[in-house]
This record gives sequence, C-alpha cells and structure tokens, in this order.
Amino acid sequence: MPIHPAKKSAAEVAREIGAAELASMQLALGRPAPKRHFPETPIDADVAAAVIRDELLLDGNARLNLATFVTTEMEPQATALMAEAFDKNMIDKDEYPQTAELESRCVSMLGDLWHAPEAGVGCSTTGSSEACMLGALALKRRWQQRRRAQGTPAARPNLVLGINAQICWDKFCNFFEVEPRFVPMDGARYHLGVEEAVALCDENTIGVVAILGSTFDGSYEPVAELDAALDALQERGGLDIPIHVDGASGAMVAPFLDPDLAWDFRVPRVASINTSGHKYGRVYPGVGWIIWREADRLPDELVFKVNYLGGEMPTFALNFSRPGAQVIGQYYEFIRLGREGFTAVQRAARDAAMGLSAELASRPEFRLITDGSELPVFAFTTADDVTAFDVYDVSRRLRERGWQVPAYSFPKDREDLSVLRVVVRTGNVDLLELLVDDLDRLLPELHRQSEPLDVEQRETFHH
Ligand SMILES: Cc1ncc(COP(=O)(O)O)c(C=O)c1O
Repeated sequence: MPIHPAKKSAAEVAREIGAAELASMQLALGRPAPKRHFPETPIDADVAAAVIRDELLLDGNARLNLATFVTTEMEPQATALMAEAFDKNMIDKDEYPQTAELESRCVSMLGDLWHAPEAGVGCSTTGSSEACMLGALALKRRWQQRRRAQGTPAARPNLVLGINAQICWDKFCNFFEVEPRFVPMDGARYHLGVEEAVALCDENTIGVVAILGSTFDGSYEPVAELDAALDALQERGGLDIPIHVDGASGAMVAPFLDPDLAWDFRVPRVASINTSGHKYGRVYPGVGWIIWREADRLPDELVFKVNYLGGEMPTFALNFSRPGAQVIGQYYEFIRLGREGFTAVQRAARDAAMGLSAELASRPEFRLITDGSELPVFAFTTADDVTAFDVYDVSRRLRERGWQVPAYSFPKDREDLSVLRVVVRTGNVDLLELLVDDLDRLLPELHRQSEPLDVEQRETFHH
C-alpha cells in the first residue's frame, strides 16, 4: 500500500473500483458518513479519503485568500520533502538528530539575519503565538529575578504594547497573569506611539512590545525611536526596560527590503525577536521562531532538561511533540532562496501590494489607510462621500467571486474606522489584476444599493 496515495476524488475512486461498488460502499457506510459519533466499523481507505476530499471542496480557495498572512503555496520539491518527513517528531532530537541539526542551523541563520551578537540562542515553535509567549515569559522571569534580588515586590508585572497587538498578546497576558497596558490609537496613528508607550512604563513593566508590522494595516512600529525614548526614561529615573519585537511577518521582510532600517538586534534594547516561518518565511503552517540577543536573556530556570527520549535534551516550549517537517521546510526555503532569492520574492510582493493600492486609490470610491510600502499588506476604506455601501458590502460581494478580503473595524478610540485589508504573498501576486477587474465590475452594482447592508448581517473577521 502506498504511504502517500495519490489524491483521488470520489469520481476517480468510482472509475477505479466501479461506480456501483463505490455506491455500495457508501451505502454500506450508511451515508451520510459518520460525523459526531465515534464510528463502529472500519471503512475502505479510498472511500474514507474520497468522502473527506469531497467535503473539503467546501473550504475556501487558498490562492484567492487575501486575508491570511500564512503561506498557501510551496514549491513541489519542498512539498515532497515535507511529506517525506511527516513522521518526524521535532521533540525527539535523539531519534532525529539531523532534523534537530537543521533546526539549529535555522536558528543560527536567523540570528545572523537579525544581527544577533551571540549566535544560536533560540528555537523553533508552532508559530508566532507560541514564540511571543516564550519571549514574554523570559522577560517576565528576568524582571522577577531582578525585583527579588533588589528585595522589591514582583507580584504585579505589566507589559506595554499597542492596542493593535495581535490576539496572542492578550492570551499571554491572560494565561500568564501579566497586566496588559495598551497604547490606544489616536487619529491617524494606528499603532504604538512612542511617547504614549513610555508614559505607561513603571517599575513593574517587564518590557515593551514593538510590532513589525501591524496585523491591522501592515505598518511597522518605530523600534529605534522606542529604544531612544526608553534610554531617556532610564536616564531620568533608572528604569531599564527591554523591547521584544513581534516580527511575525516583518522579520522576514525588513531584512531583505529595508536593510538600513534599525529594528533588530542592532537596536540595543531589543532582547528577543519572533517570526512566523509560516508567514513571509514561506513555509506551510505551523512553524515559528524565537531568537534571543544572547544566552543570559533566556533564564536557565525556564529551560527543562528531559532524558526520557535518550540523551539529555534542553527544551523551552509550550508543546512537547510537534511536527519536524515544517522545520525541514524552513531550512529548504533558506538554502533554496538565500538573501538574493528572499529579496526578489519579497520585493515582488511589495511591488504588487503598492501597485494594487495605487490602483485602488485611483478609484474615487476608496481611500488608503496604508499603501503596502512596509509589509506587502495594506488597508483601505470607502471614501467619505460613499453612502450607498460600506467595506462590509465590498468584502461580501468579493466573496461571491471567491475572493477573501476581510473587512473589520479598528480597535478602541478608532472603532469608527472600518477597513478592508489585502495581504499580498508570492502565491497570489499574479491574481491581483483579476481582483481589480472584479471590483470594477462590482462597483456599479454597489452604487445601486440604497444604503449599506444591515449591520446584523455583516460578517466579522476573526484573525
Ligand atoms: C503581529 C502578529 N503577531 C503574532 C501573530 C500570531 O502568529 P501565529 O499565527 O504564527 O501564531 C500574528 C498573526 O497574524 C501577527 O500578525
């Protein structure tokens, strides 16, 4: 029996085994297929696969998905390589020492890319959410150690971050009992303001998070300016507050397209950086990375040593077992493209994002919030004089053509602003002209609406 059988639809299975036999198998299966109760009996492998494959046709088309930051396309060579490695468990470094070696090489390469003074302090994770939690846990523990050493209370830690922070930061603060101190949006400032962030810092602040770039609109937060303002704070009152950079997307874009921008370990207060290998790192979900500036930024007491897989292995992770294939896919992308290749693909994505945003800005119906010149991601809204439809109508109508372009409202203090967001990845660059054609076809129909669709009927966006 092949380990990775070719993809077969129900129709192909029917051709192979005979439509009648398939029908009788499906009959025996007692259509509809078992859904909620644990099935009593086995069924034929081809039938099981075909039934599931048919059902999955109802999922969205990943290539038309302009909502997600996550990789929807890899080269066939990478896909094959990863499929060959589905059985590898990342935690089992004794059984799979070479996969562990590839992980360690990726960590070194990222340290190199982000100008870490000390190579190789970091690990892979399931994504940026886990990586952010590990980074923030290290900040919290170091703060606690310092407070206890000074004989001062260490019970009420807080973390300063923009209100635009991704949900993983709310989770961190909730799960690990840290008070989040959010810098609100203000007018046309849609991400963290430096002065406002510094004003929220006190002796209980474990760190400030700077996001490269914001999930809401693709903009980069000002890491170097934040660093300078925290220096001034230290000069004034002695508080020494580190920065964690959430580079979920931007840490795999800025090194190639904005090499002179100081956002990484060249900025002295940057203690740790995370990225999602499965976003602009170009790997299928789920792999992420966290790198620390140097070994003493990661308190030893957070690192567990286990010997039940043979050998004594240090581990710092929320999960235990997890797939090794994604790490192998990441190493493939790094050696396949190198700096030159990454620069070319990210440049293509940014050029396409900026081209599309300019195209949309030339329509009187739309107003840009960002233009795709930082992350290849931009947000736009309807012009003030458009009263017949709103961004939710545009999103819904585009969805009828298969496009997923999310519409959502901004957070606190700018809840009045609702936008559409486009995420350009290498996998969808070529399709963008078709999106404009579809939009142009839709606009006259949207103008014929008397008013925007009922608020209750709007779809919300959960990323
Ligand atoms: C800025 C930022 N941080 C963290 C995350 C969470 O990343 P992941 O989906 O890899 O867990 C995202 C996801 O979109 C993000 O945009």
